[in-house]
Amino acid sequence: MTKTLTVNPTHPDPATILEAAQVIGRGGLVAFPTETVYGLGANGLSAAAVQRIFAAKQRPSSDPLILHVSSTEDFQLVAVLDGLEELVSTLAARFIPGALTLVLPKQARVPLEVTAGGGSVAVRVPNHAVALALIAASGVPIAAPSANLFSRPSPTSASAVLEDLAGRIDAVLDGGETQIGVESTVLSLIGAPTLLRPGGVLLEEIEALIGEVLLPNEAVLSERVAQPAPGMLLKHYSPRAKLLLVAHGADLERRVKSAARGVRGKLGLLLPSDSLEWLTGVTAERVDLGATPAQIASRLFAGMRALDSSGCDAILTHQLDGTGLGRALNDRLFRAASGNVIQS
Ligand code: TXA
Ligand code: MG
Repeated sequence: MTKTLTVNPTHPDPATILEAAQVIGRGGLVAFPTETVYGLGANGLSAAAVQRIFAAKQRPSSDPLILHVSSTEDFQLVAVLDGLEELVSTLAARFIPGALTLVLPKQARVPLEVTAGGGSVAVRVPNHAVALALIAASGVPIAAPSANLFSRPSPTSASAVLEDLAGRIDAVLDGGETQIGVESTVLSLIGAPTLLRPGGVLLEEIEALIGEVLLPNEAVLSERVAQPAPGMLLKHYSPRAKLLLVAHGADLERRVKSAARGVRGKLGLLLPSDSLEWLTGVTAERVDLGATPAQIASRLFAGMRALDSSGCDAILTHQLDGTGLGRALNDRLFRAASGNVIQS
């Protein structure tokens, strides 16, 4: 049985948080909201507790986890900051707490289960009252991947968590819908700053603050991290229906219409408001992603899940302008489509 603990997202009841923290203290699993997506939390210093995360998600143990702490000062509990103090504090002053995860050399006390056997650890301070209260009440860094089954769309609500994990985890703190809707940006500070995953904090903003950030190709990435990381796997964030992803660029309306005509079976449309209007005459289930990149981010994963629930065989969408938040959105869409992009 998975217990649902309902909390106010900005002023969580301390008694409810304590109940969740006691589950963490016993080595159990608690899903909780952050500003990005829901995380599946366990005591990040306990190898046994962390192993339960992998089992519940059916996630390969080769994929490292993020440790969530309550402040930048607490990075030193799990990471070695020698020589990186200035860079970390510059980034922290601007983006932390927030949707920025830093990859740093690990402290010996961090179990190898967290880091997939590697010498680096990912850390972040979530910008969400419930997450921060849970970390504080637990008194340990909380290891938390997104609270979905491996390779499924990340959950942006407690009901999405339960869709995948009911009966597999001890509790979920229901603090409503998450605000950003895509995961944190993962930035490695081991060697030259390198973007491992685009996310809620924009690459452009990071570069404006600290200068050039490397964008490695997959080959370089797999050398830098213990294993190609989960967010870096080609098939990820996927709905059950086949995702048809039309490339951004000239003639988009014609190419989207043509892709819609090619679909056999029940069609789902997952499109920004403007693009939905191109297909008014078409029989389909519709999810309106809204107009701005922020709206699209907050509705993307829930939209995939909704179209899956309504039994769609194919979900049609298109790439977005790849700057700003569009970089993270296109990354998630690309992986949800297993790398298949429709050009013509
Ligand atoms: O927004 C988020 O980051 C959410 C919330 C719950 O905090 N968490 C999340 O975790 O998305 P997960 O496990 O689904 O994705 C973790 C990402 C992976 O894509 C991987 O690239 C990176 O973090 N990662 C973790 N540890 C790493 C390490 N030691 N070296 C390199 N990358 C690492
Ligand atoms: Mg994930």
